[in-house]
Parts: sequence; structure tokens; C-alpha cells
Amino acid sequence: MYEWLKAIHISFVIFWMAGLLYLPRLYVYHSASKKGGELDRKMLEAERNLISIIITPAMLITLISGMLLLFKYNLEVLQNSLWLQLKLILLFFLFGYNGYLTKQGKLFALGERPRSEKFFRLINEIPALMTIIIVILVVVKPF
Ligand code: HEM
Repeated sequence: MYEWLKAIHISFVIFWMAGLLYLPRLYVYHSASKKGGELDRKMLEAERNLISIIITPAMLITLISGMLLLFKYNLEVLQNSLWLQLKLILLFFLFGYNGYLTKQGKLFALGERPRSEKFFRLINEIPALMTIIIVILVVVKPF
């Protein structure tokens, strides 16, 4: 059962990270589009679909499967596993990043251009970096 849960967890982590990597890309093109134009409308629809069909469900299933996996650990193990504590801290930021991106989508929907193209290109690297660090923490367990 535990291995099945882990397989589900990893699959939905992939979907979630794919969504988080793709969304700022859409914002890059959206930032350059004319307000009220054809591209503006298309980007809004693509962003809305990506958030509601991929990102939010994948985030929730990752969270639920991750919490269930956490039941394996008792409080003592949790206190002594620095890798797990670090992972949970990074997850806190990842959820914050997810919320921040969703907020930007709402601002685009209101007709705003909240940030520059360069800004969205830059923050696009965050989930990639987080994924590398989290996977090293959970697989190698260096601490
Ligand atoms: C959303 C909240 C999350 C929670 C509560 C959570 C919790 C857990 C737990 C408890 C395990 C089992 C660790 C073990 O027994 O070795 C696990 C496995 C794993 N997690 Fe997460 N996780 C979450 C999100 C993520 C994210 C965002 C990533 C990657 C970016 C990730 C990647 C992995 C991987 C690759 C494994 C399998 C490690 C192995 O080979 O055993 N998890 N997770």
C-alpha cells in the first residue's frame, strides 16, 4: 500500500511541477499582449484551464498523498530527520509560490499587467530549483 501511495505521490508531484513551470511562461507571453485583444483572451483561458484542471487538483492530491505518507513517521523520527524538516519548509514556500502565481492570474483577468516579462522569466526557475533540492532531500536523505 505504501509503495502505491508513493507512486501516486510522485506522479502528481510531476503534474503539479509541470503546471508551475508552465504558468509563468504563459504570463511572459500574456504580459506582452494587448489588453482586450485576441491573444489576451486566449492566454486568460489557457491560464484559467491550467490552474483549475492541472495545478490545483495536482497540488491537492500531492498534499493528501504526502500527508498519508507522513503517517509512517512518528514524532521522534520527524524531530530527528533534518531532510524531512527541510522538505516541509521548502514546501511551505512552494505553496506560497503557487498562491502568488494564482494571484497574478487574477490580476491579469482584471486587465492588469502585474509584472514585467523579465520578472516572470526569472521566477520560472523557482520550481525547477525547488524540485532538484526536494528530490535530493527525499531520495539521498543527506542529513
Ligand atoms: C505537498 C506536500 C508534501 C508532503 C506532505 C510530502 C511528504 C512526503 C513523504 C512523507 C514521503 C515519504 C518519504 C520516505 O518515506 O522516504 C514523500 C516521498 C516523496 N516526495 Fe513528497 N511530500 C510533499 C510534496 C512533494 C513535492 C512538492 C515533491 C517534489 C518536488 C516531492 C517529492 C517526493 C519524492 C520524489 C518522494 C519519494 C522518495 C522516495 O524515493 O522514497 N514531494 N513525500
